[in-house]
Amino acid sequence: MGEGFGRGKVILLGEHAVVYGRPALACGIERGVRATAAPAEASRLDVPVWDLSLAPSTDAEEPLARAFDALLDVYGERPRLAVEADVALPAGAGLGCSAALGVAVLAAMDDALGVEREAEERAEVALAWERVFHGNPSGVDTAMASAGGVAVFRRGEPLRRVAPKRPLILAVANSGEASSTKHMVDSVRRQHERNEARIEETFDGIAALVRNGELAVAAGDVIALGQLMDLNHGLLSSLLLSTTKLEALCETARAAGAKGAKLTGAGGGGCMIALCEDRESAGGVCAALEEIADEAFIAEVGT
Ligand code: PMV
Repeated sequence: MGEGFGRGKVILLGEHAVVYGRPALACGIERGVRATAAPAEASRLDVPVWDLSLAPSTDAEEPLARAFDALLDVYGERPRLAVEADVALPAGAGLGCSAALGVAVLAAMDDALGVEREAEERAEVALAWERVFHGNPSGVDTAMASAGGVAVFRRGEPLRRVAPKRPLILAVANSGEASSTKHMVDSVRRQHERNEARIEETFDGIAALVRNGELAVAAGDVIALGQLMDLNHGLLSSLLLSTTKLEALCETARAAGAKGAKLTGAGGGGCMIALCEDRESAGGVCAALEEIADEAFIAEVGT
């Protein structure tokens, strides 16, 4: 039996601009997806938490079955494997759930078949899965699902790892508003088509925040990183990616002592992240967020 794991991710700085070739600062979190794969008569993918049991041969109208099919095509000879995935991430919430699932399924199948891949190659191959869900993925989600840690991702370049001087302690809150990455990426594309110069300026601004953010993480400067996150949130709001609920979550986190807060991932709903000084203050921030969020939890990165 093969086993695989794909991490969830949070984007500290740089979502959306990363689709247009700018860098993003992201980290893998310990919550993710575990998958197992075992030889079977015919391939199928089971996701018990979603009550899904799919066969690529008969459920082709189901995107998840098509994504699974795309991964089976990766091998010279299509394998026959029964894959089961245990998903511990909310879907459509900006935490890279679909990429974590794709990476976990691929890793479990590789393990069952004795195929060895480096993290970077696995992330690249898992893009075939991601493309089924949205046409133009930057690759940051599969890269972080596969590699973990903190890193600067830029399309077409090798992942550049960043060693945090001290662990990053984040309060993560789910707004409970489901969002579609594809729709949000499409919305930014339409704005870019209508007013290219202004949107490119916004992306350049975000890229500058990412460069400073990398330095702040390496220096362990929580105050600077928090300010950069606030600024990034403002620029994302200017791209119409925030919601009333996400604004309320950011405000609540800041009022409860977070050093900075922003939406993370595609926006239009999904999750918010707040940077905290330490675990104790993160506990207070989470308690305040739980009053209005669907759920809130602490993610510690870079230990
Ligand atoms: O919402 P998520 O977790 O799928 O994150 C999407 C990140 C984007 O930058 C908006 C899209 C991408 O492909 O990088």
